[in-house]
Amino acid sequence: MLNIISLFSGAGGMDLGFKNAGFNIIWANDFEKDAVKTYERNIGDHIVLGDITKIKSDNIPGNSGEIDVIIGGFPCQGFSVANTKRSMKDSRNFLYLELLRVIKEKQPKFFVAENVKGLISMKQGKVLDMILNDFRKIGYTVDYQLLNAADYGVPQSRERVIIIGNRIGVPNIFPDKTHGVYNDNLFTDTNKELLPHITVKDSIGFLSDVELFNGKLIDHVVVDGRKIYNHVASTKVEDTFWGRKYEVDQADICDYLKYWRSKSDWSVKKIDEHFGYRHTAGHWFRKDNDSGSIPKPSDWWELKKLLNFDDKFDKEVTTYIEKPILYEQSLRITNWDRPSDTITATSPEIHVNKKRRLSARECAILQTFPDDFIFEGSLNSLYRQIGNAVPVLLAEKIASEIKKCLTSQ
Ligand SMILES: C[S@@+](CC[C@H](N)C(=O)[O-])C[C@H]1O[C@@H](n2cnc3c(N)ncnc32)[C@H](O)[C@@H]1O
Repeated sequence: MLNIISLFSGAGGMDLGFKNAGFNIIWANDFEKDAVKTYERNIGDHIVLGDITKIKSDNIPGNSGEIDVIIGGFPCQGFSVANTKRSMKDSRNFLYLELLRVIKEKQPKFFVAENVKGLISMKQGKVLDMILNDFRKIGYTVDYQLLNAADYGVPQSRERVIIIGNRIGVPNIFPDKTHGVYNDNLFTDTNKELLPHITVKDSIGFLSDVELFNGKLIDHVVVDGRKIYNHVASTKVEDTFWGRKYEVDQADICDYLKYWRSKSDWSVKKIDEHFGYRHTAGHWFRKDNDSGSIPKPSDWWELKKLLNFDDKFDKEVTTYIEKPILYEQSLRITNWDRPSDTITATSPEIHVNKKRRLSARECAILQTFPDDFIFEGSLNSLYRQIGNAVPVLLAEKIASEIKKCLTSQ
């Protein structure tokens, strides 16, 4: 029996992948009620609801050395751009330290951590280095790779940093890609052995014309012999949004701002610092309009104070009115013929030919949750649990490599 402890388990995408690969999860934890309910319903009642920072390692089962693997996709909000002003010392107060603490205590043979791609570039890579080094210091050989779930047969482009560590003196093996880019019927990937990426159409096309459940989150219908639960979606996409009243020419505005900045003693860097941004101000002063951007009204007024420019564009830039959403322009629309964009916890994409967001089940299928995995909670909670998850199939492939290492010992 290969035993696992799972932290930050959420609804259990990563856990289900490990379970499917033959691991036995003895303890899991999350502090979100709905995610825990979903986990209990589908994976097992070994999950404990609670804040990990308040759970002593003694209260987690398994003596030192008895656990094979500890897994955990630690949250990383603490490292986000909003926190760039924090010192590195402060940034140590983050949740990966909980993972580190439990690993240090339980001494698993392997650990697997998952995180967003942005972790690689945070503070020019210093955050990731700090994390890797902390795991090395407690005796683990640690490696990381950026894996795209689409390359492993998941119908979704989702790049995630996977960190693997072991203390048994073996190399950390990441799974080989099985799928590659398939473009206009031509493989553009150099590896001809790869299967084509799985498309959105392949995976959720069959649900396009299935009516949404009206508010009944856990009801089901049978479609093509498949029992479909959680086919609920936000249909509030015909709403209005606040947009600029007047057409504005990005290139004109950028040229204009560039002119006024050149007359001032404000460098782009100083402006960024003033606003607390990184690289944003640079886009306001671009000459080409490919990468330029127009400041939002509050920034515009602040910039005007700094650069003392005239009123020429004030009205165009800062007059906002409520407008109807134009799907094709304003929202991310699922692309039917390739893997979907990343399924996020907050704003699922718009269905390609239905004026609604993807249903929770459609998102779950794009995350490779099986049809009989039923999510609990409100619609927003469903979207959050699903969007937070590691795709089950990707987790299973990572788990299989680790299992090979453990069983060949
Ligand atoms: C990225 S999600 C993990 C998803 C999970 N690995 C999966 O595959 O489904 C991170 C999870 O950490 C949980 N979390 C955040 N802070 C926590 C804390 N202090 N204690 C316990 N859980 C926490 C969140 O509720 C969330 O479900």
